Amino acid sequence: MAQEDVFKKLVSHCKEYGFVFPSSEIYDGLGAVYDYGQMGVELKNNIKQYWWQSMVLLHENIVGIDSAIFMHPTIWKASGHVDAFNDPLIDNRDSKKRYRADVLIEDQIAKYDEKINKEVAKAAKKYGEAFNEAEFRSTNARVLEHQAKRDALHERYAQAMNAGPDLNELRQIILDEEIVCPISGTKNWTEVRQFNLMFTTEMGSTADGAMKVYLRPETAQGIFVNYLNVQKTGRMKIPFGIAQIGKAFRNEIVARQFIFRMREFEQMEMQFFVKPGTELEWFKKWKETRLKWHKALGFGDDHYRYHDHEKLAHYANAATDIEFLMPFGFKEVEGIHSRTNFDLSQHEKFSGKSIKYFDPEINESYTPYVIETSIGVDRMFLSIMSAAYCEETLENGETRVVLKLPAALAPVKLAVMPLVKKDGLPEKAREIMNDLKFHFHCQYDEKDSIGKRYRRQDAIGTPYCITIDHQTLEDNCVTLRNRDTMKQERVAISELNNIIADKVSITSLLKTLQ
Ligand code: GAP
Repeated sequence: MAQEDVFKKLVSHCKEYGFVFPSSEIYDGLGAVYDYGQMGVELKNNIKQYWWQSMVLLHENIVGIDSAIFMHPTIWKASGHVDAFNDPLIDNRDSKKRYRADVLIEDQIAKYDEKINKEVAKAAKKYGEAFNEAEFRSTNARVLEHQAKRDALHERYAQAMNAGPDLNELRQIILDEEIVCPISGTKNWTEVRQFNLMFTTEMGSTADGAMKVYLRPETAQGIFVNYLNVQKTGRMKIPFGIAQIGKAFRNEIVARQFIFRMREFEQMEMQFFVKPGTELEWFKKWKETRLKWHKALGFGDDHYRYHDHEKLAHYANAATDIEFLMPFGFKEVEGIHSRTNFDLSQHEKFSGKSIKYFDPEINESYTPYVIETSIGVDRMFLSIMSAAYCEETLENGETRVVLKLPAALAPVKLAVMPLVKKDGLPEKAREIMNDLKFHFHCQYDEKDSIGKRYRRQDAIGTPYCITIDHQTLEDNCVTLRNRDTMKQERVAISELNNIIADKVSITSLLKTLQ
């Protein structure tokens, strides 16, 4: 199945099974805003718990906070967001549609890549096992021609972005590449302008004195401005970290690909404060630690790659993304940045307060350097759902849709099913559920045939199902069915907790990180 079709199916699956709904749907939705349903919220909470515990429980020197979304507006001046948190925009005069100039160009680069990949796929089919891809890529005339155009465009684009960005040059690239508006099909473009991504609102009365405030575009600044509070009250010694999970808001112009790019989303960020000069060592360590966290979910190492930034923000001295293989290619899920002492120094300057750390080991004060790990909950959710979504053909020719979610993240861990709705089986099933519900999330289901019930649980990724039958009343055993293998075994009710709890717990997942 084409990856585009997989993605469409995933989006409708998310809706059909209560994972993600478009926001305000009965009013025809609100662009790039989504609600999480009864299954989605459980998966999301489990992702957050996995992250939080990996930070705060596994590291003695990392603590958490929960800062407010509203903050003093000067914070965003100090952080640079008021002046520089912009996207370059271009309008098509015929369709009146607005686009991000950089995204139009990146899409054009992706088109060259697609052309190359098509040539490679065609040749692979033609030559079969004898096909040497590396040789084909380095010798085929058409591939080389596309590659040369792609590289030249990439180079020109990188230079334009590095130069400020150079808005005139971005427009010129769009004209030279003859990029057309997907709606009107024309090249009738306006100038390129900068557009600030922060949402604003007013605090206080709307008469005199109302203050313009921003909805935070990242949670990180809430950590920076609480650095001193936490360091002093927690008697924290450098190196130490502060973790936070919370909502962030960006008025994204090109909001697309479902929950990949949203206007309201959630971040899990950790700022790690270190001694100046040690930051690149810590950057390396956090790069490895974070990749290990991702890989522990078991989707396969080939789903991940680093993308080291060539172009660094003026305050960063190293930055990398962890990218995940989504149905629409490798995409950023997490950013790891060495942010120097930029943010703390800026807040010192703008607030007039000293934010220094006195290091007793060297008897000196300094402004700490910071390594940041920043991951979007929603993007993580999307990566997990897209890797977990499977359509399988069964021996009897039927297909089943199954979410092969890591058991520790699955919304429901166990489905409890009486074989029939009579003969005391529902009562026995309830009795089992009443005991197990204290240990993990269970769902009771007695409607329809067992086959249909299994399909329903597969579709929401429930790792285990148990069936209570007449035999159960005599031998106190149930049939335990595994979601992935579909194998069934007879186990004693008294053993259920032992067998299942360990496999579905976040603690077990965390132990693999040690
Ligand atoms: N404090 C650093 C920071 O915010 P970022 O690269 O802009 O860095 C970090 O964002 C992560 O937040 C991204 O890797 C992504 O997972 C998530 N993210 C950013 N913008 C998003 C959006 N519009 N929708 C969903 N997730 C987003």
